Amino acid sequence: MGLGAGARFTWLGHATFLVETPGKKTLLVDPWLEGNPSCPKNLKAPAHVDALLVTHGHFDHLGEAPALAKKHRCPVVSNYEIACWLRSKGVETTVEMNKGGTVEVAGVRVTMVSADHSCGITDGDRIVYGGEPAGFVVTLENGFRFYHAGDTNVFGDMKLIGELYKPDLAMLPVGDLYTMGPREAALAVKLLGVRRVVPMHFGTFPPLTGKPAELKSLCASMKGVEILELAPGESLE
Ligand code: NI
Ligand code: MN
Repeated sequence: MGLGAGARFTWLGHATFLVETPGKKTLLVDPWLEGNPSCPKNLKAPAHVDALLVTHGHFDHLGEAPALAKKHRCPVVSNYEIACWLRSKGVETTVEMNKGGTVEVAGVRVTMVSADHSCGITDGDRIVYGGEPAGFVVTLENGFRFYHAGDTNVFGDMKLIGELYKPDLAMLPVGDLYTMGPREAALAVKLLGVRRVVPMHFGTFPPLTGKPAELKSLCASMKGVEILELAPGESLE
């Protein structure tokens, strides 16, 4: 599938994406690899990572961020509360921010945007306050811009995200139950005004029943919209 982005986006299953940028940097969004039943075995340990982006504190997104940050000595972008928790686990390369802010890491610009979800961090038998959940808008070196929504329901301010950032590509959850399902995601596509959409957060476990095909049929009448369904391990470039 041709994006013409000068970048390669590989879906590692669930909400985890490995992005190879035009500047030859490797970003890992929501780095859940070892425990991720959808992640192909040969992709569970990327050789090189330049930056980690964590949308929220749930285990299936925070994933192995502490271990990966220490192994690769790379920045981990997250909200303030998750950054504090990461530091308490010995991570020294935290980059904290909050919604509306933009930081530059590994040569790309990362903007934190809203998500409608929850954010507790499971730490042993406790749930630690993890601040608010987020999504990211990432502007690559060549200006190509993608929006990773994190876990979210549809919300009206997706219109603002579309208006402000005009993403070229959006990764949207469609699995239902913990996030929006296809019906809500179809409205998200409309609000964002985005043309190219990669469905995520479906099929990992049996209860995540929403299907990309349902989103595709709901978006069939939206001119120019392409729902780009990937299999875990498959890439888009
Ligand atoms: Ni979540
Ligand atoms: Mn999740």
